[in-house]
Amino acid sequence: MIYQGERLTAKLLDDNIVELCFNAPGSVNALNLATLNEYKQAIAAIAANDDAQGVIVTSAKSTFIVGADITEFTELFKTPDEQISGVFKSSSDIFDAFEDLQIPTVAAINGFALGGGCETALVCDYRVADTTARIGLPEVKLGLMPGFGGTVRLPRIIGVDNALEWMTTGKPHKAEDALAYRAIDAVVAPENLRQAALSMVKDAISGQLDWQARKAEKMQPVTLSETEHLMSFSTAKAMVAASAGKHYPAPMAMVELLEKSVKLPRTEAMLLENSAFGVLAKTDACTAQVGLFLADQVVKGKAKKAAKSATTTINRAAVIGAGIMGGGIAYQSAYTNTPILMKDINTDALKLGLDTASDILSKQVDKGRLQASKMAKVLNNITPTLDYQGLADVDIVVEAVVENPKVKAAVLKEVEQSVSESCILTSNTSTISIDELAKNLQNPERFCGMHFFNPVHKMPLVEVIRGEHTSDETVAAVVAYASKMGKSAIVVNDCPGFYVNRILFPYLAALSQLLVDGADFVAVDKVMEKQFGWPMGPAYLLDVVGLDTAVHGSGVMADGFPTRMAKLAKDPVELLYRHNKLGQKNGSGFYDYDKDKRGRMVKVASKESIELLSQVCSDAVPFNQQEIIARLMIPMVNETIRCLEEGIVDTAAEADMACIYGLGFPPFRGGPMRYLETLGLDNFIEQADKYAHLGEMYQVTDGLRNMANTGKSYFDTDVKAAK
Ligand code: COA
Repeated sequence: MIYQGERLTAKLLDDNIVELCFNAPGSVNALNLATLNEYKQAIAAIAANDDAQGVIVTSAKSTFIVGADITEFTELFKTPDEQISGVFKSSSDIFDAFEDLQIPTVAAINGFALGGGCETALVCDYRVADTTARIGLPEVKLGLMPGFGGTVRLPRIIGVDNALEWMTTGKPHKAEDALAYRAIDAVVAPENLRQAALSMVKDAISGQLDWQARKAEKMQPVTLSETEHLMSFSTAKAMVAASAGKHYPAPMAMVELLEKSVKLPRTEAMLLENSAFGVLAKTDACTAQVGLFLADQVVKGKAKKAAKSATTTINRAAVIGAGIMGGGIAYQSAYTNTPILMKDINTDALKLGLDTASDILSKQVDKGRLQASKMAKVLNNITPTLDYQGLADVDIVVEAVVENPKVKAAVLKEVEQSVSESCILTSNTSTISIDELAKNLQNPERFCGMHFFNPVHKMPLVEVIRGEHTSDETVAAVVAYASKMGKSAIVVNDCPGFYVNRILFPYLAALSQLLVDGADFVAVDKVMEKQFGWPMGPAYLLDVVGLDTAVHGSGVMADGFPTRMAKLAKDPVELLYRHNKLGQKNGSGFYDYDKDKRGRMVKVASKESIELLSQVCSDAVPFNQQEIIARLMIPMVNETIRCLEEGIVDTAAEADMACIYGLGFPPFRGGPMRYLETLGLDNFIEQADKYAHLGEMYQVTDGLRNMANTGKSYFDTDVKAAK
C-alpha cells in the first residue's frame, strides 16, 4: 500500500500500476476537506514512489464521486469571497498536482461523476466509463461554477462551445453521450470497467497511447481564432441571457470567465476560476440554491426514514373519483408500479379518468420518451370499476371526489365499510379539515390527508396531513407510498388550508387589498413575475386556479382565521366570480383567454373585468415595485412563520421546499424562509411594521422579534421549541 487513508487508498498493483481508490465511509464519495487532504497526501505518495508507472482512479462505491461536499458550503460561504477563493485555490492546486504526475493516468467511472467527481476524472489523461455512468458539471444548479479546475479543463478537452453548454445547463450526460462529446474515451460494461482502465493505462505506459500529448493539451490556451472566439462567446452570451435571465448570475459568470480564461495557460486560467468562484459563492442566488439542495436532503431523509419504519407496504391502491385529480393519481400510481383501482359512480367519469392517464402516456410515446409496451403496462395497472367490490384487497384508498365536506365525509364512511382492517384511508382535499372528516370514521388512526397538486404527474409535492388521531404508522406508510410515486412528501399538521394553501391565501388576500387600494393587476403581475420571479403573477394565478375555487378557499380561510383572513366587504375576486368570470376554465377572469394561430393560449387583460373592478377599487394609484412586492410577500412570510411556530410544518427547510414544489416559488430566492433571511430579520420587521396598519396579516409575531433580537437563524432552530 502506498497510501492508506480513511476515505481513499493508493495501492501498487502488479505491473507497477497504482490504483487510487475512493471509498469514503457512508453511502457516497463526496469531496469534503478531509478527503481532499487525503487526496493530496496520496498524490504526494504516488509522486514519490519510483516504481509507479501509471495510475487508475476508481471508486469502491456503486457511484464514482458525487462532487464537492455541499454540506460544507454553508459555513465556508459565510467567509469573505477572497477566503473562499483561497480555499478553492488550495483545492485546485491538489487537482493540478495530480495532473502533473509524470506518469499516465486513467479514470474508471461508474455511476455519478458530478462536479468535483467529473473534475477528478478530467485531471486524468484518459477516461473510461461503464454504462451506468452519469457525467456532468451541475454546479450551475447551486448558483455556482466548477471550482476544481473544471472551467479550465473541460473546454480544452471537448471544445469551448460544448463546455459552455455542459456548464451552463448543468445537465448530467450518459456514458454514450459523453463519449460522443469526447469527454470520455471509451464505454464498457460495468463488469469490464476496471480491466478496461488497466489495459488503457498499460497501453499508455507502453507508448501505444500518447499520454504526454493529452497532458500537454490541458496546459495550453485553447486554439481558437479571433473570429471563432468572438462567435462562440457572443452566441453563448445571447443564449444565456435568453434562458437564465438576471436572477441567475452563475451561467453568465461562467461565459465571461471562459471568454478570458481560454486564452490563457492553465495556471493563469485557474487563478481566474478561483476568484470568480469566490464571487459567485457570495451571491444570494447561490445561498438560496445551496439551501434548496440541503432542504431537499432533509425532505428526502425524512421520507427514507418513514419508508424504513413503515410496517404497512402499499402493494395495491384505490382512488375514489375519476376526475382530473383522480385520473392523475391513478396514472401516477400505475406508472410507478402500484396497481390501482379507479372507482367512480358513472362510466363517463371513468372514461375521463382513463383518458387523463392515456393522454399523458401518449404524449410521452409521441416524444419518444416511452415505449408503447410500457404505456400498455401502465394502463393495465389501472382497473376501472363502478362498485366497491375490489376494495377489500387494497392497502390504501385515496378519496378524490368533489371538494365538498358532506360528500367527502359520506364517501369516506362508505369506503371504510368495504376495506380490510389494515387498509389506510386518505383524502385528497385541499381545504377540508382532516379532523372534521375523521369524525365519521371508526378508525381515524388509519386516516390522513394526501393533498396532490394539479397536474398530478408534473407537480412534485404531496402534502401528507396528519390529523389529531392519525397514527405514526399511517403517516409513515403514506409518505412511503408518495415517495414510491416519485413525489416529495412533506408531513404537515391539520389546520385550515394545511400548509401550502394557508400561506398562499394571505398572499392572494393581499392582492385583493392592493387592487382595492388602486393597483393595476397587470402591473402587479408584471412585477411579481419579472422582478420577484414567480412563474405567474397573482391575478394570472387566480385565473389558472379558477376564481370559483379561490372564492371557496378564501371562505374556508376566513372561517378558520376570522381576524386575520376575514373576507373584504368588497372583494374584487368575489365580484368577478359573481359575474361568472371563473378564469381560464371559462375563458375569462382577470384576463380574457383565446388561442393563437398555433393553438397556444394567449391572454389579454379583460376590459369587462377592468370595468367591473372599478366598482370596488379606488382610482388608479401608481405603486412602485418595492411596495407591490412588500405588500404581497409580507403576509405570505408572516403566515409561514406562524405555521412554523404552531408546528404545522416542522422545519424551515420543509416550509421552503413545500413552497418551491407546490407553488413554484422562485428557486433563486430559496423559499419564503430563505427570502426572509436574505432580507434580514430586522429589515423585514422594519418593512412589515410600516404596513402593520393594513391588518393582522402584516403584523409580525413576537417569535420573529425574539429571533431577530437573539440573532438566530430559522434554519438551525426548532422554531416551535424556541418560541
Ligand atoms: N455533497 C454531499 N452529499 C451528497 C452530495 C454532495 N455533493 N451529493 C449526494 N450526496 C449524498 C446525499 O446526501 C445522500 O446521502 P445519504 O445516503 O446519507 O442520505 C446520498 O449522497 C445520495 O444522494 P441522494 O440525493 O439521496 O440520491 P439520488 O440518487 O437521488 O441522487 C445525486 C444522487 C448525486 C444525483 C444527487 O445527490 C445530486 O445531484 N447531488 C449533488 C451533485 C452536485 O451538485 N455535485 C456538485 C457539487 S459542487
